[in-house]
Amino acid sequence: MIKNDLYLKALKGEAIPRYPVWLMRQAGRILPEYRAVRAKLSGFKELVETPHLAAEVTIQPVDILDVDAAILFSDILVVPDAMGLKYEMIEQRGPLFPETIRSSGDLNKLATNPDVSDRLSYVFEAIKITKKELVNRVPLIGFAGAPWTIFCYMVEGKGSKTFSEAKKMIYSNPDLAHDLLGRITDFTITYMREQQRAGVDALQLFDSWAGILGRAPYEEFGLRYIRKIAQALAGFPLTIFSKGAQASLVDMADLPCDAIGLDWNMEIESTRELVGESKTLQGNLDPCLLYADKSTIERVTKNLLDSFKSPRHIVNLGHGVYPDVDVEHVKVLINTVKNYENKFR
Ligand code: CP3
Repeated sequence: MIKNDLYLKALKGEAIPRYPVWLMRQAGRILPEYRAVRAKLSGFKELVETPHLAAEVTIQPVDILDVDAAILFSDILVVPDAMGLKYEMIEQRGPLFPETIRSSGDLNKLATNPDVSDRLSYVFEAIKITKKELVNRVPLIGFAGAPWTIFCYMVEGKGSKTFSEAKKMIYSNPDLAHDLLGRITDFTITYMREQQRAGVDALQLFDSWAGILGRAPYEEFGLRYIRKIAQALAGFPLTIFSKGAQASLVDMADLPCDAIGLDWNMEIESTRELVGESKTLQGNLDPCLLYADKSTIERVTKNLLDSFKSPRHIVNLGHGVYPDVDVEHVKVLINTVKNYENKFR
């Protein structure tokens, strides 16, 4: 039994005395304690691939920020890496893939039938250690990138404002795009099932680049594959976060998942109307709010809580927390949520 199971109860729409809160990217650079662990290593990848250290930085925000859930310290890019496209994490810049997929011949760069449990054993080991060391204080969230976002990195090879190489493929060679998306989806289903087996209590899919597609292409190249994953995991607590996909919220209402993550451009009330009462909504404060003074953070967070007309909410930011925010400001957000009574219990 998990002692603080507010997050899991909120996912399932069960009665809760207050709304749960955690932050995307909480296991990372905002904490000096994280930077201290990281500084002793060759780089980001070493931390991701060293299970006992990944477990340590996963638990740090639970100890220091007192959040209602832990999210495994890892990265969505371990999936393309294990499929055969190795990434490098360049300091201060971001990820880089020396090899990319731009033509059907490039598919040969991918491993044939990669053994997920072997190639990503470091993730499953980190989950097992984390579960043991967390001693059921809060649930542990596992995650993966949604196929469209992973596709973007595999085709583009690095971050981009437009991901025009990835978009070029869906318009110029849709068959190749579907071939690659299908492979990513199959790998991701096995990966998420293995995370489940290793002990995570819930899963989240991050579709960070959903917003660069319009509604129809997102249905064809994004949601179709997310639906397949959600169906494969049916019954297990699952959140889908499609950043920037306002136009697709109506299509997401019938996804077989428990929660939908909202970014700060999505409105709580109108999203609730589109999605109905059968889903929990997660989000959606602007990460930049944490640069405001403490009383502003408290006031804006209370406004968000006041706007909830349902018990089915999990408080979070609308995207990952930025590395240079003051930890004390993060605590104001968390404590404001914790001191706010749920009117719907
Ligand atoms: O949420 C958590 O705290 C768990 C850990 C986590 C990381 N990345 C650690 C990380 C999670 C869930 C992710 C997801 C992720 N990774 C996404 C989806 C969410 C989003 O932010 O849109 C994406 C697109 C990536 C790919 C990625 N990883 C990029 C583009 C970068 C560089 C830019 C950046 O945000 O720093 C990373 C690096 C990364 N992943 C860091 C951390 C803590 C920073 C690197 C470091 O500490 O040196």
